[in-house]
Parts: sequence; structure tokens; C-alpha cells
Amino acid sequence: MSNFETIIYEKSDEIGYVTLNRPQALNAYNIRMRDELYQVLAAFRDDPEVKVAIFRGAGERAFCAGADLSEFLTAPSPIIARQVRWERDVWGLFLSITKPIIAALHGYVLGDGIEIALCCDIRVASEDAQFGVPEMGLGIIPAAGGSQTLPRVIARAHALEVLLTGRWIKADEACRLKLVNQVVSRHDLLPTAERLASRIKTYSPMAVSNAKQAINRGLDLSLEQGLELEANLAACLLTLPLGQSLKGS
Ligand code: COA
Repeated sequence: MSNFETIIYEKSDEIGYVTLNRPQALNAYNIRMRDELYQVLAAFRDDPEVKVAIFRGAGERAFCAGADLSEFLTAPSPIIARQVRWERDVWGLFLSITKPIIAALHGYVLGDGIEIALCCDIRVASEDAQFGVPEMGLGIIPAAGGSQTLPRVIARAHALEVLLTGRWIKADEACRLKLVNQVVSRHDLLPTAERLASRIKTYSPMAVSNAKQAINRGLDLSLEQGLELEANLAACLLTLPLGQSLKGS
């Protein structure tokens, strides 16, 4: 699979591995990474050989230390930024993907790093992981969906505290707040994510996709609308020939 400058995308045994790869800058998210992430997400979405993805960070120290601060002063004008966003809505694409995505988080998980993790479905952290939303200290607010995704994952009051105080939290607290599903040793981080991925990929891709959509899309609906969504997604699976439903399309 093609390698980019800031991201490594590999496929193995129906799992896609997306590695943020700027370890010298703690995998800070820069414009190049945004463009490459957009391409990688589309490739993962469209590749029938890949059933589940694992996101991780290169190097020993960070999953991602947030937006690249050295690019802050070189940001495009608001008009160009809006145009780029319209053309490349990375976060919209990320959240629209119906295949499951697992985040394997270690070291610093800050700003855009935590927002990338929040676009994933299951988060596994190693004991050394530290989470933070430092935007307040920079006089800005999250712009990669974090103000919306964080309170959809952890309780609203905790989301407000983490955002408004800028307080960093360690892996065990992140687990208590349900920001991450589980905490494991650094050594076990990737194997744990791979075990989850290996189990999920044995199921019908369409059933997995519909289950993900039922929960993620349903959460933004009323109960009545959510039940209708579930009924429609369930009915889609029943109309498939049995073999296709089991193996996926
Ligand atoms: N953007 C660009 N470069 C970054 C970066 C970022 N967000 N975070 C770290 N780096 C770079 C540092 O400039 C440094 O590069 P250098 O070796 O060329 O000087 C390298 O990564 C290592 O970081 P360093 O600060 O030396 O490590 P540390 O252990 O002392 O501190 C952090 C680690 C994460 C506490 C610190 O780097 C930090 O606060 N980063 C910014 C976090 C942030 O505010 N992100 C933006 C959110 S919107």
C-alpha cells in the first residue's frame, strides 16, 4: 500500500493499519497530514479487502500531540479555509465511515489527537497515555469535531471540565470517564487492538456496518426515529441472500 509522508497505511489480513507518522514532532497534525488522512480514509472506506482499521501513532512518546503549532501562524485566510473545508471535510468523512475503527492510544493524546481518537469507535489506551484538550490555553476551541464528539462519548459535565480547564487526564481516569474502553500495558496495546479487530472482522461486514450505524446515527435521533432507523437497518440485512448476509458483500 502506498506510503505517504506523514501517514503509513498498511493492510494485513483484512485489517487496515493507519499510523500517524511524524514521531519527531510527536505526530502533530499538520496540513500535509490532513490531506493524507483524507486520502487514507477514502481508501479504507472503499476497499472491500479491509474490514476494520486500527489507528496508532509512530514512536514511543505520542499518539498525536495536537495541531502542529508551527503552522498556526501560516493558517490560510478564512475564505480559503472555508473552501478547503468544503473540499476536504476530513472529520465529516471520518465520522461517516461505517466500517469499525479502533484507536490504539499511547503517550500524548492531545487536541487533534484526542479528536481523531473520538472519531474512532473503540479506544484502547496504554498505561502511559495522557489526554488533554489544550485549546483554551491557545484562545481557540476544538475544530475537529471535539466539542461535539467528546460529550457524545463522556458525560457532559466531564466534557465541559476537560475542555474548560484544559486539565490533562491519565489513562486510568480516562477509563473511569469512559473516554477509553480499556487500559493495557504498552506492550499489549497493539495486540489488544488486533484481538478486537480480528474478532469483528469475522462477522458479516454489512451486519457490522449496520450495527455501527444503528448506534452512532441513532444517538442523534429521538427514540422513535432511532427505532425506525434500527428497523430499516435490520430489514436490509434480512433481504440479503443468507450467504451474502453471513459473508458480507
Ligand atoms: N506542534 C508542532 N510540534 C510539536 C507539537 C505540536 N503540537 N508538540 C510537540 N512538538 C515537537 C516539539 O516542538 C519538539 O520538536 P523539537 O525536538 O524539534 O524541538 C518535539 O515535538 C518534542 O516535543 P517537546 O516539547 O520537546 O517534548 P516535551 O516532552 O518537552 O513536551 C508536550 C511534550 C506534548 C507537553 C509539548 O510538546 C507540548 O505541549 N506540545 C504542544 C501541545 C499542544 O498544545 N497541542 C496543540 C493543541 S491545539
